[in-house]
Amino acid sequence: MEFFEVIKERRSIRAYRPQPIEPRALEKILETSRRAPSAGNLQAYEIYVVDEEEGKTALAAAALDQEFISQAAVVLVFFAHAERSAGKYGRRGMDLYCLQDATIACTFAMLAATALGLSSVWVGAFDEGQVRKILHTPPSHRPLVILPLGYAAESPPETERRNLEELIHHVRRKGR
Ligand SMILES: Cc1cc2nc3c(=O)[nH]c(=O)nc-3n(C[C@H](O)[C@H](O)[C@H](O)COP(=O)(O)O)c2cc1C
Repeated sequence: MEFFEVIKERRSIRAYRPQPIEPRALEKILETSRRAPSAGNLQAYEIYVVDEEEGKTALAAAALDQEFISQAAVVLVFFAHAERSAGKYGRRGMDLYCLQDATIACTFAMLAATALGLSSVWVGAFDEGQVRKILHTPPSHRPLVILPLGYAAESPPETERRNLEELIHHVRRKGR
């Protein structure tokens, strides 16, 4: 799919067909994430891949019972890794850059999935402690996004956006 078509076609999908994802497609998605930019190229994030039923069901429960998570073929969980960024950037690395690194990597994964004909939805509503427990993660890894991946079983319409005029703030210096 052409890049702008990917952007236009992407939707949040909350129903998936019981169809597995080809290993090569998953590899491509993860490889695309790895190409994301990061502060100081420190890549201060971690990706957990969950494809067994028990893990997916537990994640759905941890995400305030968002059942569709357990329907997905594979669930990726993106974590910020504060320590990786803190060494070079201190507080700003811990509080900001590692969060940005992880969210950009997740965005790349989401768009790669769309380009491959797969669907996803960015899930941010979950109990962090529960997710950490399910995945047995070290305390330095903070879960930011649960990203279910699978073949869509619904086709919702495009969602509304704010007008550009409202969103954009043109800055012009006086006298120019
Ligand atoms: C930070 C963030 C958190 C979100 N959390 C959830 C969530 O917990 N559950 C859910 O179903 N969708 C969640 N979404 C998806 C949004 O609802 C969705 O992107 C928005 O409604 C626009 O729809 P679209 O993605 O189809 O364009 C989240 C999106 C973002 C960026």
